[in-house]
Amino acid sequence: MARNKITIVGAGNVGATTAHIAATRQLGDIVLLDIVEGLAQGKALDIAQAGPVQLYDAIITGTCDWEQTAESNLIIITSGLPRKPGMSRDDLLAKNVQIVKDVSEKIAEHSPDSIVIVVCNPLDAMVYAAAKVTGFDKNKVMGMAGELDSARFSHFIATELGASVKDIKCVLMGGHGDDMVPLPRFTSINGKPVIELIDKAKLDEMIDRTRKGGIEIVNLLGYSAYYAPAAGAVKMAESILTDRKAEISCCAYCGSEYNAGGYFVGIPVVLGKEGVEKIIELDLNDSERSQFEKSLAHVKQLADQVDKLL
Ligand code: NAI
Ligand code: 2OP
Repeated sequence: MARNKITIVGAGNVGATTAHIAATRQLGDIVLLDIVEGLAQGKALDIAQAGPVQLYDAIITGTCDWEQTAESNLIIITSGLPRKPGMSRDDLLAKNVQIVKDVSEKIAEHSPDSIVIVVCNPLDAMVYAAAKVTGFDKNKVMGMAGELDSARFSHFIATELGASVKDIKCVLMGGHGDDMVPLPRFTSINGKPVIELIDKAKLDEMIDRTRKGGIEIVNLLGYSAYYAPAAGAVKMAESILTDRKAEISCCAYCGSEYNAGGYFVGIPVVLGKEGVEKIIELDLNDSERSQFEKSLAHVKQLADQVDKLL
């Protein structure tokens, strides 16, 4: 069987870390691409030289040349400006949409049969842009954010209860913004709903901290998170490339489901070799539905801005 070829666009904090984690998971050969001469090449060489220590075999290529990405089966787009303290993710839209447009045209030209995972922000709008520009089937273009936001929520829950993160199943929906919708009613520890284990006031605090999880790290570092985001992107890639059919919250195309009306937004899905293979429709209560609708309305506004810029 042919080896997987994974292209990671952008060799900055998220891109290089994604390449390293993907190498340790032995998901296939990796092409790391950046516009800055030497950056992807240097990071790729360093990651390749960690192979003998961490015992992974993969061809890891750093390049500025799209020809080298040809016929990748999976592409992860991390190229884009990250936010700085005082900025919202939405402030990145005008600049990042041009980068995503350029990159998506190259993907469609060089890897027309690939599956695309978008990471750059504002996430839901950039997924919309990548889908529009590539013209790929809607199940083949998606975004990583729900896995990161769920991981943040899970971390807070595990810390509060002294539980293992391995025993927590967390569900979260909506756009990757301050109005994302963590769903404690659907979040459980060893099958027991978290709402039976943690009181509402404490859970509300954790939900608020999850919603502000990105800016908490930006304020600490001066730039944005990358270990957990990269781990989230690789988890999605692994489920697709190994056809594991994991249930993952990610930004995916929603037709009639959740009354979303044809937008890309965070929802729980099944990821397998065809990309988004199934949308999991949860029986939301009135409060959860209205929170999701508020978040979706914001996602739609950003998609309208993308339409004006493309
Ligand atoms: P970074 O600045 O470290 O890396 C971005 C890289 O993209 C740079 O090396 C830059 O040279 C490259 N780049 C820019 N234009 C390019 C092009 N046309 N082709 C190829 N490469 C290009 O930024 P970082 O921290 O890696 O973040 C990347 C993006 O991911 C940001 O937009 C950030 O907001 C977003 N992000 C999203 C998360 C999510 O949950 N969805 C989590 C963390 C970051
Ligand atoms: C985060 O949530 C920056 O969106 C990124 O960390």
